[in-house]
Amino acid sequence: MTSIREIPLVHCLENDWPNRVASILREAIDGYIAESGKCQLMLTGGVTVQSVYKCWTAQSDFPHGQINYYFGDERCVASDHPDSNYGMVCRTLFPSGMPEYVQIYPMDGNNSNYHGAARCYEALLPGKIDVLLLGMGEDGHVASIFPGANFALEMDRRVMFVMAPKHPPRRLTITPKVITEARTVFLLATGALKGRVLAQVLKEGGATQELPVRYTLSATWLLDKAAGEELYRDSG
Ligand code: 6PG
Repeated sequence: MTSIREIPLVHCLENDWPNRVASILREAIDGYIAESGKCQLMLTGGVTVQSVYKCWTAQSDFPHGQINYYFGDERCVASDHPDSNYGMVCRTLFPSGMPEYVQIYPMDGNNSNYHGAARCYEALLPGKIDVLLLGMGEDGHVASIFPGANFALEMDRRVMFVMAPKHPPRRLTITPKVITEARTVFLLATGALKGRVLAQVLKEGGATQELPVRYTLSATWLLDKAAGEELYRDSG
């Protein structure tokens, strides 16, 4: 039986990438809220997504009260540490403070029992994530699933402690199982270098372990002009 090659849905958003992405994601979120009254939304860390979170902050009707917020990964630092993804979300998505009604579930980055913190987070995750946001590194990592990380044997685990090759090293991350089980996955990528990596993913088969962004081949890719141009130039 021939394997079905997964092809992502690619949006190359040439102008005003943050606002366009914020609108596309908002539409997906609103769809799940209309369906069940709630959206299980998993946020990404990193820098790229911050401009999108700030666009949501500017939307006075953003449905924070109908969203359960989760995290795809976290650095094992205190929440007030500049490297904390939870801290970054507080600064960009809730700059005026976190309203009491917001249901947000940060990973416990401040717990030196790293494996225990991973198990605790795993236990509070919902059965399925409705909307999963992922950034990507120029090395092809997503969340804190880095090239060479062997999760293949972890068919059950959904959150794990890992030592990352990128500072800060100690991290909690979702495993590929959460990505493949999520109902809607968006990959946010900007810049020519990431576009080149994505072109390689489209052009060549290969082990997901080498380029974990391959776990998003069934996802929707939201690229800016530079990434989109590189993708189409390099993928032939
Ligand atoms: C993290 C992120 C990580 C990030 C990518 C892209 O904790 O660092 O979850 O997966 O999304 O590294 O980061 P940039 O947007 O800063 O390039």
